[in-house]
Amino acid sequence: MTVTKPLGRLRLGVNIDHVATVRNARGSAYPDPIRAAQIAEAAGADGITAHLREDRRHISDADIEGLMAALTLPLNFEMAATEEMQAIALRHKPHAVCLVPEKREERTTEGGLEVAREENRLAHFIAPLRDAGCRVSIFIAADARQIEAAARIGAAVIELHTGAYCDLHAEGRFEERDIELARLGEMAAYGHELGLEVHAGHGLTYDTVAPVAAFPEVMELNIGHFLIGEAIFRGLDPAIREMRRLMDAARA
Ligand code: PXP
Repeated sequence: MTVTKPLGRLRLGVNIDHVATVRNARGSAYPDPIRAAQIAEAAGADGITAHLREDRRHISDADIEGLMAALTLPLNFEMAATEEMQAIALRHKPHAVCLVPEKREERTTEGGLEVAREENRLAHFIAPLRDAGCRVSIFIAADARQIEAAARIGAAVIELHTGAYCDLHAEGRFEERDIELARLGEMAAYGHELGLEVHAGHGLTYDTVAPVAAFPEVMELNIGHFLIGEAIFRGLDPAIREMRRLMDAARA
C-alpha cells in the first residue's frame, strides 16, 4: 500500500565526526565534538551521530565516552561490524547502533553494507546489540535485495545511502539524479512495507535535502559534513536551524 502522508515527524541526527576531523588535523584539544553536540541539541537536533572508525581518524574512544556522559540526546553510534566495535557498543549501550561498511583507504563511507552476502554473520552480530537494548540500523544502498536481507536478520532500521543521489546532483547529471531519487523513494516505501523503520543520509545539503525529507516513510535523516562546513560561514546553530527549516518545509 502506498503511503502518501508522512508517517511522523522527521528527525534530524547531526553527525559531528568532522568537528573531530578539524581537531585532529592539528592534534589540538579543540574544536570539541561534545560542544558541537550540545549546540546541535540547542538548535533542534533530535540525535547525535558519531562514527568511531577503526583507524580513529576523527572520533576517538574518549569522544564516545564523553558523548555518553554529557549528552541528553540519543547517540547513534556508527561502526563497522567488527568484534572490537561490538565490544565498545556493548560497553556503552548507546540508543542506536548503525552498521556501516568500512575500508581504510576510503575518504568516507562509500557504499552500503553488503547484507545479503553476509546474512548469517550479521544476524549473529546484531543479536547481542539488540539484546542490550540498542536500536540496530543497517546502512545500505537503495536495493531490494539488501532491504530484504536487513529485514530477515532482524534489523529494526535501514538507513538508505543518499550519496549517489547527492553526487549526481553535484555533477549536474540531473536525469540520472532523478532516477536515483525515484529509486530511493520506492525503496523507502518497500522498507516500510517490510516493517523496517527507514532513515536516510550521506552527502545531504541544503540543495538536496528536500526531496528526501518529503518521502513519507523516511523518519530520520543523518547529516554531518555539509553542516560542519556551513558552520564555518554562518555558525553551527544557524546552519542546523536552516537544515531543520528545509526539512520541515519539505515535509509540510
Ligand atoms: N549516515 C551514515 C550511515 C554515514 O556513514 C554518514 C557519514 O558518516 C552520514 C549519514 C552523514 O553523511 P554526511 O557527513 O555526508 O552528511
